[in-house]
Amino acid sequence: MSSHTPVMASEVVAAMAEFSSGTYVDATLGAGGHSLQILEAYPGLNLLGCDRDGQALKLAEAALAPYRDRVELAQARFSELGSLLGGRKDPPIAILADLGVSSMQFDIGSRGFAFRLEGSLDMRMDPERGGESANDLIARADEQLLALLFARNGAGAQSRRYASAVIANRPFASTSDLAATIWEATPARLRGGRIHPATKVFQALRIAVNHEEEELHSLLVDGFRALATPGLLMVISYHSGEDREVKRFMVTMESGGCTCPPRLPCVCGAAPLGYRPRRSAVKPGRDEEERNPRSRSARMRMLVKERDGEDAIKRFESGCARG
Ligand SMILES: C[S@@+](CC[C@H](N)C(=O)[O-])C[C@H]1O[C@@H](n2cnc3c(N)ncnc32)[C@H](O)[C@@H]1O
Repeated sequence: MSSHTPVMASEVVAAMAEFSSGTYVDATLGAGGHSLQILEAYPGLNLLGCDRDGQALKLAEAALAPYRDRVELAQARFSELGSLLGGRKDPPIAILADLGVSSMQFDIGSRGFAFRLEGSLDMRMDPERGGESANDLIARADEQLLALLFARNGAGAQSRRYASAVIANRPFASTSDLAATIWEATPARLRGGRIHPATKVFQALRIAVNHEEEELHSLLVDGFRALATPGLLMVISYHSGEDREVKRFMVTMESGGCTCPPRLPCVCGAAPLGYRPRRSAVKPGRDEEERNPRSRSARMRMLVKERDGEDAIKRFESGCARG
């Protein structure tokens, strides 16, 4: 199994320099790659490490053993952060979320995330907690629902064609069986690209199976509410839909959810709750992209929380603020 190389680790560690004492939350602990470097760099920090994947937590526990006195672990989804953090005496000074799937999850064929490995179409990040697998989703979905899921998550103009092929060929015995169906359904002129046409279909199924859009919403809203003031929220995302939502949230917290026309003074009563230390997303350098191709699509965004407040959050949730 290949180890997980943390993406933009030096940028993450540098961003935490002003938030280097107290407890921070790594909400996507994975194999503990980021947190190992953070704990090493800042002796004044303690970690509350969370992941929805029990297997990941075991790996992280071993990797972080040298710092075990400073580490607490919890198997938790983003949607459980509110209850996990709500009652704590020491609100977290920072929250890090490195979204998506880990190398460990990709590299175990039986988990069903990768079509280059043989496995059943599961794709649940926490299968021991039940819920619908990718196979179950495919079995109950109609063509319209699948086409919508594929289109929302990057399968583009071929979404309908893929949905129809999936319905015609289900059930699938394995990951490679589904990949072969997508390949067959792909027009010959589109088969020559660097990315296998099944990549986006697998991504779309994984996002739906793990309710990743709803989970991201909980991470942003409940994570921000739980943060100390000042406190730092850092999110690394790997596809444009995710990055767009992270940016919309952070811009809204920075403006307070202002609804006034751009470039005019604010008269709508919006109260900013924080600021973005950098307006644009941080991207990996050329060196890192070459060393770790998985990092190529990564975008990191940061928000410093300065005060509590619900109004901007309500404006974010209603979608009425300028994004
Ligand atoms: C890209 S990996 C993180 C790798 C980690 N930063 C490291 O350096 O080893 C993403 C991790 O987030 C976890 N994850 C994804 N969505 C989650 C959610 N909604 N709640 C909790 N954990 C989640 C996955 O199980 C996976 O282990």
